[in-house]
Amino acid sequence: KHLVVAVDGPSGSGKSSVSRAAASALGIGYLDTGAMYRAVTWWCLEEGVDLDDRDAVAQATRDIPLQMGTDPTTPSVRVSGREIEDDIRTTRVSEVVSKVATNTLVRPLLQQLQRDLIDRIATETGGVVAEGRDITTVVAPDADVRVLLTASVEARLRRRSKELHGHDADHAVEATRDQIVRRDADDSTVSEFTQAAEGVHLVDTSDLDFEQSIEALLDVVRR
Ligand code: CDP
Repeated sequence: KHLVVAVDGPSGSGKSSVSRAAASALGIGYLDTGAMYRAVTWWCLEEGVDLDDRDAVAQATRDIPLQMGTDPTTPSVRVSGREIEDDIRTTRVSEVVSKVATNTLVRPLLQQLQRDLIDRIATETGGVVAEGRDITTVVAPDADVRVLLTASVEARLRRRSKELHGHDADHAVEATRDQIVRRDADDSTVSEFTQAAEGVHLVDTSDLDFEQSIEALLDVVRR
């Protein structure tokens, strides 16, 4: 049987990079569900769809010609064949993606798409690590392994500002703090990460470096 690993966590927990590395190590596929909310957001901006028009954004979610890459070593998101992996990470998208993520008409559409993708990737590559905010609870509650990756606010801030500003991290921490705290607040209707749901393994990466975080996740999978 195929291995399905579900990983949830807040931004800056290392969720994406750690999930991708773990999928590589396990030789299975990878699905970044946050990238799907970002892709819909990018597509709406591109097509001039009003992000506050809940029905129009839901319709855009049905219409988007979205192709998610499944190889953990080469992340890829395509819309109509155009590679938008970089475009969806810009602040232009990050600033407004919560409008799409909190749209209750959009969520069930993307969640169903994600279930179908998880099945397809698992069948094609022998397994999948699927990563997001509601994978352990809503999208794949019956996954073989379910993990909540957490980290203290301070640790998440350090990582996120390093991501955004390279080595000049310390100077950027304050600017990033606003951003990360605001995103948590914007997303708080979607998910709470104070404790793991029943049967979900909690992995705190606050005091772990990248390699240690990967090992901690793999340890849970091997258990
Ligand atoms: O890591 P970061 O918070 O920057 O973003 P992400 O993981 O790429 O997710 C983008 C947006 O989609 C965030 O607002 C997430 O809260 C949301 N999201 C969601 O609502 N459900 C998921 N399964 C994955 C992401």
